[in-house]
Amino acid sequence: MDQHYYTRTAQYLHWIMGIIFIAAWLIGFYSGNFLSYAVDGSFKGSVITLHKNIATVIIFLLVVRIFWRYTHPVPQLPNTMSPFMKKMAHLGHLALYFMLIALPVTGCLFSWSAGHPAPVLYWFEIPRLVDKNPELLAIVKPLHIYLSWAVGVLLLGHIAAALKHHFIDKDHVLISMTRQPKD
Ligand code: HEM
Repeated sequence: MDQHYYTRTAQYLHWIMGIIFIAAWLIGFYSGNFLSYAVDGSFKGSVITLHKNIATVIIFLLVVRIFWRYTHPVPQLPNTMSPFMKKMAHLGHLALYFMLIALPVTGCLFSWSAGHPAPVLYWFEIPRLVDKNPELLAIVKPLHIYLSWAVGVLLLGHIAAALKHHFIDKDHVLISMTRQPKD
């Protein structure tokens, strides 16, 4: 096993989840900040439904990803990075994993506590774990929104760091997530 590259499966999981997560983020942000029921009526409802149907997929992919992460080796960060920067990179990745759990969980609680479903790919619903509950809604709604803003900042930092590794430090970090030894 070449330790310079993530496995092909880890790479697919990373990029597919990245695309789904960013799509869900953009759709949620659009609905939350540019649409209102008073003006846009049922169109806003359809956009929120799309947001949920895409975002819930993250939960299922994350289970596979965490299993894969703990059963397969990952590349080491380059030795040109200081121990402090390596620590920051690990903390950043941990924070991103936390968000991959926290966003869908608070999103589902948000929907259920408002009396709505958490649908997956317009195919089935995640069984409701809580009933309609205004007290819970008052907590999880702002939580989902604040977490979504925080993850926006984290994601920008993650992308900026990957680009810095590639174009400024000219190291192997971004390539380890895009290529295989024989590519
Ligand atoms: C991948 C995970 C998710 C991300 C990145 C995400 C992101 C966002 C963002 C950026 C917003 C707009 C916040 C604002 O008003 O500024 C939002 C709103 C919302 N999200 Fe999520 N979300 C995720 C998962 C979910 C899930 C799984 C559900 C429910 C099943 C959900 C339900 C909602 C609802 C109902 C809104 C309010 C939309 C509105 O008021 O127009 N989200 N989300």
